[in-house]
Amino acid sequence: MKQYPNLTNPLQIGSVTIKNRMFMAPMDTGFGNNEYGGFTEAGVEYFVKRAAGGFGLLYSGGTSVDTKVDGADTIVNHPEEFIATGKKMNERINAYGSKMFMQLSMNVGRNAGLKTPSVLPVLGNPSIKTQALTVEEIHSKVQDVAKAAKVCKEAGYAGVDIHALHWGHLLDTFALEFTNQREDEYGGSLENRLRFAKDIVEAIKAECGTDFPVTIRLAMKSYIKDFDKASFDGSQEVGRTLEEAIEIAKLLEKYGYDALSTDAGMLDAIYYAMPPSYVEKGFTIEMAAKLKEAVSIPILCGGRMADPDMDEAAIAEGKIDAVVIGRQAISDPNFAEKIVKGEPENVRSCIACNQGCIWGYFTKGQVSCAVNPEVGYETNEPLTKSADSKKVIIVGGGVAGMEAAYNAKLRGHEVTLYEKSDVLGGNLIPAGAHDFKAEVNELNEYYKHQMEVLQIDVRMQTEVSAELLKESGADVIILATGSKPIMPNLPGIDHVKTISGVDALLNKKKVGQKVVIVGGGLVGCEIALGYAEEGKNVTIVEALENIMQTGDVPSMNKAMLFDAFEYYHTNIMTSCRVKEINDIGVVVTLADGTEKTIEADTVVMSVGYRSVKSMAEELKNCEAQVFEIGDGNAVGNIMTCISEAYEVIMKL
Ligand SMILES: Cc1cc2nc3c(=O)[nH]c(=O)nc-3n(C[C@H](O)[C@H](O)[C@H](O)COP(=O)(O)O)c2cc1C
Ligand code: SF4
Repeated sequence: MKQYPNLTNPLQIGSVTIKNRMFMAPMDTGFGNNEYGGFTEAGVEYFVKRAAGGFGLLYSGGTSVDTKVDGADTIVNHPEEFIATGKKMNERINAYGSKMFMQLSMNVGRNAGLKTPSVLPVLGNPSIKTQALTVEEIHSKVQDVAKAAKVCKEAGYAGVDIHALHWGHLLDTFALEFTNQREDEYGGSLENRLRFAKDIVEAIKAECGTDFPVTIRLAMKSYIKDFDKASFDGSQEVGRTLEEAIEIAKLLEKYGYDALSTDAGMLDAIYYAMPPSYVEKGFTIEMAAKLKEAVSIPILCGGRMADPDMDEAAIAEGKIDAVVIGRQAISDPNFAEKIVKGEPENVRSCIACNQGCIWGYFTKGQVSCAVNPEVGYETNEPLTKSADSKKVIIVGGGVAGMEAAYNAKLRGHEVTLYEKSDVLGGNLIPAGAHDFKAEVNELNEYYKHQMEVLQIDVRMQTEVSAELLKESGADVIILATGSKPIMPNLPGIDHVKTISGVDALLNKKKVGQKVVIVGGGLVGCEIALGYAEEGKNVTIVEALENIMQTGDVPSMNKAMLFDAFEYYHTNIMTSCRVKEINDIGVVVTLADGTEKTIEADTVVMSVGYRSVKSMAEELKNCEAQVFEIGDGNAVGNIMTCISEAYEVIMKL
């Protein structure tokens, strides 16, 4: 059993003792709040589940408190229901030894075209300008946040977090010289730019008592080179530098904040704010360590921190005091409990894809999760044994097949899983081959481990026929046969230098220095990124007008890939069709009809996947219930595979 003595050690935040160093990051869910910022039943169950899952401290998502300036109904003018629900929820959270801080938002400023310190271009829409706040309006916001904190205290919250000196939200833009041109006491020197943050903590302490903990989120580096322009390698910075963040940390401590919840990024550099897997794990630790050297209040560290060994080492080495875990708490609500028990192998890894959580929130207004289909359904009955144990046969040991086997076994069915190859994982194996997709590999390891733990009857290297299935006596047959890469019928497709994306990822052939990737979807772009990072000369050839047009790629992943391609000088050729692959390379037809030959040592075909033909047709009149799930049903992604598998099993 692994031990994490530092992660599981209590931490003092002001007057409050937190039972361990694993804090759940503030994350709005979209489904968890009512119109005033109070919690719905779904929200309550979502948080209680994560308290039961072992997190020492839960932060709520950012809750707007301003009643006058941005003109909203909030917990300040509608406290009754919030207090009643909060009391009940906090009692339940406290029953697990966990505590909850409400994150009180000063609002998001220019990120949503709201008022800002100075007149600023709206995020992503620079022709529209914001309005500057008056001093009276600043004071009004301060009064509201103090009142809100009092309401939170009454509702049983153990403290509050101030949202936020990060992401370019309102307070952040006050603190940044780049976005604050005020000439009054809220602009100019760093102290003046932080006066708003100072007023807030002083007002809250005056209202709630000095022993009521107040933390604040602080981005230690903005990673921007201009409005709407990220600084990919961080070398150009017009926002916050680490040096300034250290000075800010000292001042925030002096003003009375009880801990600093650190991370990085502005929404102009969204991939450092909401880092996809291409951002290295633990990228904020060394910055946080510098802040820790400068202050004596706890430094909480967030952003790609979902690695217990890394976290344990960072705390042991005195670099940080606690970790603030976001998406991993969505994908596995029991993450902290599993670490306490020393069972990291049982953690359902967040794959840092952003697909369900932040992208779901941005595009559908609700968080979901690629690997955890229960997110948002916490009010449902927990997974229970089926009244009627059935004989379930699953064909295919990829992600859909293993998710189905896992849930079917937990529900008390008799499960046999057939896999025709000698490895489990299917397309998770190539997908997890990049260094920057290690979590996909971890997810595969998780599933494989669960097959063993649950003693599921897995028959490897066993190809089953429709006849065998018909005669098996199965009550339920689940076909999860996956997909294979499409190899279009082109002249030269069999050329020695041509390889499928899957085979390239599986290292089946040596890949040369000059690589052409045919197909600029997400998979092709990630393959391109991998080779670009290795220093190869990479060209992406895409038939559509732009790359990553299909498959609903989260904007932050897309933004990072585009910036990475610019950084690595990756050649992107769009509206460009492949005519032939030959000894020189790839002959393409450009949009104007002219032809061009791109030199290549290796041509990687990444033009999509095709479902592997299953036996559904042959099993039509079979007595068993037959389901086709995952890519074998319709080519999708990890999220669709897992959710289909879960759905089908829940109904058995
Ligand atoms: C769906 C979603 C909603 C979020 N909402 C908030 C929020 O309300 N306040 C905040 O400070 N951060 C918010 N965040 C950012 C997270 O707190 C965290 O900083 C981010 O997910 C990176 O950490 P991670 O790599 O551990 O996920 C949100 C993140 C997600 C995924
Ligand atoms: S959707 Fe992806 S990034 Fe978000 S929590 Fe789930 S696995 Fe993690």
